[in-house]
Amino acid sequence: MATILVTGGAGFIGSHTCVELLGAGHEIIVYDNFSNSKPEALERIKKISGKDFRFVEGDILDLDALDKVFDENKIDAVIHFAGLKAVGESVQKPVEYYHNNITGTLMLIKAMRAHDCKRIVFSSSATVYGVDNPVPYVETMPTHTSTNPYGYTKVMIEQILQDVYTADKDWSIVLLRYFNPIGAHKSGLLGEDPNGIPNNLFPYIQQVAVGKREFLGVFGNDYDTPDGTGVRDYIHVMDLANGHLCAVDYVLAHKGVEAVNLGTGKGSSVLDVLHAFEKACGKELPYKIMPRRAGDIAWCYADATKAKELFGWEARYGIDEMCEDGWRFIEQNPNGL
Ligand code: NAD
Ligand code: UD1
Repeated sequence: MATILVTGGAGFIGSHTCVELLGAGHEIIVYDNFSNSKPEALERIKKISGKDFRFVEGDILDLDALDKVFDENKIDAVIHFAGLKAVGESVQKPVEYYHNNITGTLMLIKAMRAHDCKRIVFSSSATVYGVDNPVPYVETMPTHTSTNPYGYTKVMIEQILQDVYTADKDWSIVLLRYFNPIGAHKSGLLGEDPNGIPNNLFPYIQQVAVGKREFLGVFGNDYDTPDGTGVRDYIHVMDLANGHLCAVDYVLAHKGVEAVNLGTGKGSSVLDVLHAFEKACGKELPYKIMPRRAGDIAWCYADATKAKELFGWEARYGIDEMCEDGWRFIEQNPNGL
């Protein structure tokens, strides 16, 4: 069993991944500055897993603090979730996004290198496929464009990690390209807890379901898709978490750099998700058709072959389970964590 440093481990995907890592018997050290999460998430991880773990409140921009973590612990690998992720905000605050995500990653790499820890799993995104590639997205497709600074941080960090490996073949790097993670832990104790008005579809639907928002605005019903609304590859956050377990095992046993999609390979439309959620919560949810959202594309789904070949991983849950678990979480935690 290994000791894993989890940056951003108090966040949505990080917290669910911590549960998986602890369940598999790994030791974890969570490093987070709570800029987009709450200490309560750590309590929930402990409650679900029945295990304790180290937590360091710190910023990935703080090289001294990172060095201290590596000085005090023998870390086998890092899962790097920490980053800012709101697409619209990144357009307004590009400098803050590039600094936090890119400089922060460079600091982390420096601390890792100084302590001879050269295994990292990075949270990338399907956003790196940009707007010109045809679906389904395959890892070999070109990824050098984006529509916003957030997306460019992912493109650039992938490039940086590639270059780190080119310079030093001792590194072991997996770039996980997530599709659309939704849902929650089965216990209803952990889930997504966004600040303010949700930008993303699923947390918005959750808030409509508990009466915190009046209706869902559906951004466009004139796309070239079966019902006219945008199609995405929604993946249960626990499937995603499990994919990290596989990626950690992989970096512990191999050298090199691999980009890997984590998606189901299936697409669902906005209305498919809304209706599945209605089924889960047992009530009709109001919605209104609105204009398209700038930067959106009609289709986005993964070719999920590589994850299966490389890790033996595939998604187990479908949209109904994602909605049932997402409903349980919001019903039990209408005001978040
Ligand atoms: P999140 O905001 O819930 O989690 C990110 C965590 O990182 C938060 O706990 C935040 O406090 C922490 N953090 C941010 N900047 C930090 C810093 N400078 N120092 C220390 N901690 C810092 O987001 P999430 O949805 O769990 O996403 C995790 C990662 O996955 C992010 O890198 C995100 O870009 C990526 N990703 C997310 C999605 C998605 O749909 N949620 C899709 C693709 C990729
Ligand atoms: C968005 C980001 C993507 C990021 C991902 C995870 C954009 C353009 N893309 O993906 O870079 O990696 O989040 O953070 O922001 N929708 C509605 N009403 C809503 C919200 C969304 O109809 O209130 C629709 C969207 O038009 C889209 C689908 O729901 O068709 C999914 O949207 P969302 O959850 O925001 O994810 P993405 O846009 O796929």
